Amino acid sequence: MTNYRIAVFASGTGSNFQSLVDAARNGALNASVELLVCDKPAAQVVQRAQDAGVDCHLFTPKAYASREAYEAEIIEVLESKQIDLVVLAGYMRLLTSVMVERYAGRLINIHPSLLPAFTGKDAIGQALEYGVKVTGVTVHFVDGGMDTGPIIAQHPVPVQPGDTAEKISKAIHAAEQQLYPEVVSWFAQGLVQLNGRHVTINKPV
Ligand code: GRF
Repeated sequence: MTNYRIAVFASGTGSNFQSLVDAARNGALNASVELLVCDKPAAQVVQRAQDAGVDCHLFTPKAYASREAYEAEIIEVLESKQIDLVVLAGYMRLLTSVMVERYAGRLINIHPSLLPAFTGKDAIGQALEYGVKVTGVTVHFVDGGMDTGPIIAQHPVPVQPGDTAEKISKAIHAAEQQLYPEVVSWFAQGLVQLNGRHVTINKPV
């Protein structure tokens, strides 16, 4: 049994959340999913958390005076649950410096492109529009910018002539569901080392 504890932040369908829960269950994550934080109480990911028996912190941003105000509340919950790693998985809100600074080095995101290309929204649409032959998935630390933090891992997804956004999105989700649990297990095993922008994974040989 591991005692490395993660919280997942998500706003949507939650296929990445599900892959993390499944990996925790079969022992591949080396960590437990202790909490879902969600800004969209009606999102599908909430049902997934309830089905999996994962606690939820649900909030409606409009009910707060500022982003800092709801983040302060989130931080209280994270601390009360002794969360080691915050895992953003389709969380559609920018974090403030309150959250980024408190969890510096313990806050990661997954983005559906090979960063630094195609930051921000609709990365798959941007990549297709641009005409790339290869796109993919990036897991990175979160810093104060938009998808700009140090890169932890990447996985390529080829683009063939005529590929639709739907087809690439499927391939990207499949890659994400492999990569994200693996990266979290590296953290849980203490294998991830950050030096400036450079991340080393000290996998045993
Ligand atoms: C993923 O493609 C992830 O890269 C992006 O948001 C999407 C979330 O998908 N940040 P899901 O909700 O996990 O299915």
